[in-house]
Amino acid sequence: MKILVTGGLGYIGSHTAVELSKNYETVIVDNLINSDISVIDCVNKISSSKIFFEKGDLTDLNTVKKIFKKHSDIKGIIHFAALKSVKESILNPTNYFHNNVVSLFNLLSEIKSSNMVVDFIFSSSATVYGEPDNLPILETERIKKVTSPYGKTKQICEEILSDYCKSNNSYFNCISLRYFNPIGAHKSSEIGELPKGIPQNLVPYITQTVAGIRKELTVFGSDYKTYDGTCIRDYIHVQDLANAHISALDYLRENKVVKNEFFNIGTGVGTSVFEMIKSFENVTGQKVNYKIGARRPGDTTAAYSDNKKAKTILGWKSIFSVEDALLSAWNWEKKIRGIN
Ligand code: NAD
Ligand code: WQD
Repeated sequence: MKILVTGGLGYIGSHTAVELSKNYETVIVDNLINSDISVIDCVNKISSSKIFFEKGDLTDLNTVKKIFKKHSDIKGIIHFAALKSVKESILNPTNYFHNNVVSLFNLLSEIKSSNMVVDFIFSSSATVYGEPDNLPILETERIKKVTSPYGKTKQICEEILSDYCKSNNSYFNCISLRYFNPIGAHKSSEIGELPKGIPQNLVPYITQTVAGIRKELTVFGSDYKTYDGTCIRDYIHVQDLANAHISALDYLRENKVVKNEFFNIGTGVGTSVFEMIKSFENVTGQKVNYKIGARRPGDTTAAYSDNKKAKTILGWKSIFSVEDALLSAWNWEKKIRGIN
């Protein structure tokens, strides 16, 4: 059974493709805007069956047509391809709306015009909740206006998918997975997160600081109303996240009327920035050089998932601890920097 993984050379897509290759024929499409071609060889080193790669930009309708023609036996699509930097999206919103929304639009219009029967999984984000009223966050939490154009693209894509499902698409089943904070790397250290330029996320900033690439980590605010003053997030090992896609795909195959169901994918446990630093130090034996700085505009105080829906309906659960994930992130950083 053939599955198309869009954005499959990226961070989460590459880990998911490796898991998929155990039971599915896997084809990746990626335009390499935020990934490197070398990832396909790394992925194939640890995959269970050969993973195929097509270079292409999904904002180009002809590219989508060509891929669908060549792989007319696709039975499922996992749609990771998107631009994902909150900061960049504020500076260049049109780019984000164009890339993220048009890519989805092209896939959906071609699915329809070629009468494809597919199960579809969309990479959504906990960012759609904005600053939540309730913790832990349930899928039924009121969706508020988010501040970043990136977050808006996720809200818009979720709505497009819901409307698309409501229309005449009896053959189209869909799940949107709302990821919390993916961290870590594959246990083989063959694949991991490859941020371009200065990392904006906490864990790559920590690993690059300890690797000597950054002078020090700035903790963005220690005056939040939390138990230690720093923000709280739900950090999930990328391998657990990858496996959530397999559970979602299996669920879609077994349940033929799934009209864009939303699932939180997180551990259900919140960890503060200070706790992340401490855990990293404990598990790696490395000191993290850090200072306290100002709050980062747009940060929410605390966000962690209620993941019961994914547990009960998808039969998925996270296995790895934050410590496991931090150690794998450090092993990956060491490998790519040639540190012993
Ligand atoms: P990533 O940037 O590592 O991977 C995305 C991949 O998509 C890249 O390889 C990029 O080259 C490709 N791509 C982008 N636009 C494309 C296009 N138009 N055509 C073809 N390929 C294209 O990002 P990631 O962290 O792996 O995220 C994957 C998905 O998960 C994204 O949709 C992202 O918004 C979502 N998400 C990520 C996080 C996170 O913290 N990493 C959290 C929640 C949701
Ligand atoms: C985590 C915590 C920071 C860096 C972002 C996106 C979100 C989603 C995941 C895609 C926060 C603190 C961070 C640093 C710090 N992506 N921090 N110093 O903000 O929860 O979510 O990535 O959908 O849309 O907004 O994750 O890793 O950036 O930050 O103190 O140098 O670490 O303030 O409290 P975030 P993050």
